[in-house]
Amino acid sequence: MFEEQFQAVSANPSLAMCAILCTFLGAMYLGRMVLGLLSLVFDIFLNPGLSLTRFGAGQGHWAVVTGATDGIGKQFALDLARRKFNVLIIARNPAKLDAVVEEIRAVNPESAVKQFQLDFAHPTEAQYLELKALLDELTVSVLVNNVGVSHDMPVPFHLETEERINDIVSVNIKAMLKMTHMVVPQMISRSRGLIINSGSFVATVPTPLLSVYSGSKAFVSTWSQALGAELQSKGVIVEHLNTYFVVSAMSKIRRSSFMIPTPDVYVRKVLSRIGVRGGSNVPFTSSPILGHALADWAVDNFFSRRFWLMYNLTLHQDIRKRALKKRELAAKEY
Ligand SMILES: NC(=O)c1ccc[n+]([C@@H]2O[C@H](COP(=O)([O-])OP(=O)(O)OC[C@H]3O[C@@H](n4cnc5c(N)ncnc54)[C@H](OP(=O)(O)O)[C@@H]3O)[C@@H](O)[C@H]2O)c1
Repeated sequence: MFEEQFQAVSANPSLAMCAILCTFLGAMYLGRMVLGLLSLVFDIFLNPGLSLTRFGAGQGHWAVVTGATDGIGKQFALDLARRKFNVLIIARNPAKLDAVVEEIRAVNPESAVKQFQLDFAHPTEAQYLELKALLDELTVSVLVNNVGVSHDMPVPFHLETEERINDIVSVNIKAMLKMTHMVVPQMISRSRGLIINSGSFVATVPTPLLSVYSGSKAFVSTWSQALGAELQSKGVIVEHLNTYFVVSAMSKIRRSSFMIPTPDVYVRKVLSRIGVRGGSNVPFTSSPILGHALADWAVDNFFSRRFWLMYNLTLHQDIRKRALKKRELAAKEY
């Protein structure tokens, strides 16, 4: 049967040409998939990335972390102190700031540590002037633009409050622009700097019912790529993190798994893979956790973007239903 088909194709030059072309394209596609997977494995397990010494670790340089009193941001502050940076932490809550300062001192008594209280959703010009004056006094070589807020639960755009929409835009976009604009001139002047921007998988696969959060992270992705290209010749590295889920207050996930690391596992991996793309195909972007990298690879290689978008819609419709039911039950119990 197969032999007959082969002879029929060989006898017809156009069919034979077509078959060769299809085989060639198929092999190219498969080859691209396999190469992507191999490079992912190399990056995650073997590629050491850039050393933090290049950015001033152990040389009296400062790392600035926004949203540093909880979750991923707090872990960045602790790990950067552990790796011999002085650390400036910024967040809203003074008691939480005090507590993290103490934790940093315990982790590395030799690191200098400062705190600055700021609500990035409602900053005043005077507060930014004060922060700029403080930053200008320090040798800032690492900026972790970590602070981020999302919707309280999946919600259709037309039902979201104007207040929450403004908060997401101010915290996730404006704060990142303002912080970077204040710090990047001194990094350029020394030809030395690392800017880590907290992105999210919701930028890779747009997420209905979290549309403003998703859009804000798409901004972070696009802006980070453009900025990364602008700054690479000036000795300043931009690293956009394409993060899937991490255990935290924001994700409302308490248990870690293969796909969901704890902040300490996540941040340790990020800091040991600077400049390494992991599973991401997007310039200046990294997903250094195996589970996240495989998710990136799967989205790149299987099904259409529309498929993933509609999958996300169904997923978040279900999450909303469950969250509403939980809220209803809680209200009844109260
Ligand atoms: N966790 C995940 O699964 C996940 C996934 C993808 C991306 N990300 C991104 O990772 C980043 C960190 O997320 P996370 O899960 O670690 O969050 P988190 O646990 O909720 O911590 C948020 C931090 O930001 C501070 N913060 C919140 N609103 C603020 C405001 N208006 N002004 C100043 N500080 C504020 C909080 O402290 P105070 O309340 O004391 O101010 C806290 O220190 C975010 O950009 C998020 O979008 C997280």
